[in-house]
Amino acid sequence: MDRSWTPSRWRDLPAEQQPEWPDPHVLDQTLKSLSALPPLVFAGEARSLQRALAEVAAGEAFLLQAGDCAESFHDFTADSIRDKLKVILQMAVVLTYGAGVPVVKLGRIAGQFAKPRSSATEFVDGQWLPSFRGHVVNDDEPTLAGRTPDPTRMLTAYHQSASTLNLLRAFTKGGFADLSQVHTWNQQFVAGSPGGQHYDALAAEIDRALRFMRACGINLGGEASLQQVDFWTSHEGLILSYEEAMTRRDSLTGDWYDTSAHLVWVGERTRHPGGAHVDFLSGLSNPVAAKIGPDATPADVVGLCAALDPDRTPGRLTLITRLGAGRAPAILPGLLAAVRDAGHPVVWACDPMHGNTFTGQGGRKTRHFDHVLAEIREFFAVCRAAGAWPGGVHVELTGDNVTECLGGADEVLENQLELRYTTTCDPRLNASQSLDLAFHVADLLRGH
Ligand code: TRP
Ligand code: MN
Repeated sequence: MDRSWTPSRWRDLPAEQQPEWPDPHVLDQTLKSLSALPPLVFAGEARSLQRALAEVAAGEAFLLQAGDCAESFHDFTADSIRDKLKVILQMAVVLTYGAGVPVVKLGRIAGQFAKPRSSATEFVDGQWLPSFRGHVVNDDEPTLAGRTPDPTRMLTAYHQSASTLNLLRAFTKGGFADLSQVHTWNQQFVAGSPGGQHYDALAAEIDRALRFMRACGINLGGEASLQQVDFWTSHEGLILSYEEAMTRRDSLTGDWYDTSAHLVWVGERTRHPGGAHVDFLSGLSNPVAAKIGPDATPADVVGLCAALDPDRTPGRLTLITRLGAGRAPAILPGLLAAVRDAGHPVVWACDPMHGNTFTGQGGRKTRHFDHVLAEIREFFAVCRAAGAWPGGVHVELTGDNVTECLGGADEVLENQLELRYTTTCDPRLNASQSLDLAFHVADLLRGH
């Protein structure tokens, strides 16, 4: 670790995607308040996640990173958090039971409020407005007042992250995630779908296995591993003043940790080694990740590894490819080989969402389940051919019964997109599509 690094060093570097806050005084006051607030996560937890990711890097576990594209200040209820967790637990159980591989559960949640944009302004309803950058910056409502960046939103984001995390900790440690509850995670509107029925059958097998162990005289009530899960949080570390204010020195080790989440990642647009975002992540002791798009060269990716994982620490760096269906066979082998030759023990994960977004006939941004699955299949095939472990998937989903992505076994059709399209940003898999995907990934993990 570079001892001259400080959490504010990024300020001397080119920082893309930062909002133009209108009032520097309010910004200053907000950042002061944020720096004085308690950390959201503890450094020791971030170290535990890094150890879990080291197992993924070694090919002994699988990473499931999932959650909303962008969390919303408007749609913030206990039910929506619980329902998202239900889907993630269902997917995790399908992967763990179906493939017999431990699953590291990492939410895109409790802090995923910022969105990178391709342009600073956009033309809506006859006027130019600042682009929507996520609720930590401005409102999605297309008015000048709504779109003007407001630094006090960072405090709202902090408090919403704190209550989300509190509920997640309660659910995952307080009985809700107990394997004896495996049936109750299947929501009513999912239960009738092909994925939901497939899930019910798997849940019944788990019930039988638990009954069998109980009948053998094993006291399952004393087994914390059956009753609780470790659930980690992550988001894109985009708004650097927010991340800086949340970064604290760990009293045990003296190292710097961004306490806004267990893991933060840099996006495809901000992953330049000379830029502010990579510099910021380079000094953190949290595990970190980077998105890798189709234009990244092997040299780019090796440069990124040198900046973010100079000590070649297993679990420190996760590389998340988002290439688009059809592109991995040409692009991925070169990246895998270059990173292996440079000696970085990274986790390779596949984001099959962001390279497969298109605008449907009705003008809605969407993704097709078949393209999502195709990219994952290619990821597995290319990794296997190269002798690399296909370490995980990164998906955007919701527990709600939305119609934002096309296809799936309970097929969403183009003319149904209008029915329940509620995302503030990218289209998300609904609960049955997410389950379908988990069954396919479990098959791939088993080698089918
Ligand atoms: N604790 C184990 C794990 O996290 C088993 C487990 C308990 C589990 N509840 C779960 C697995 C819910 C998946 C989903 O893997
Ligand atoms: Mn997205």
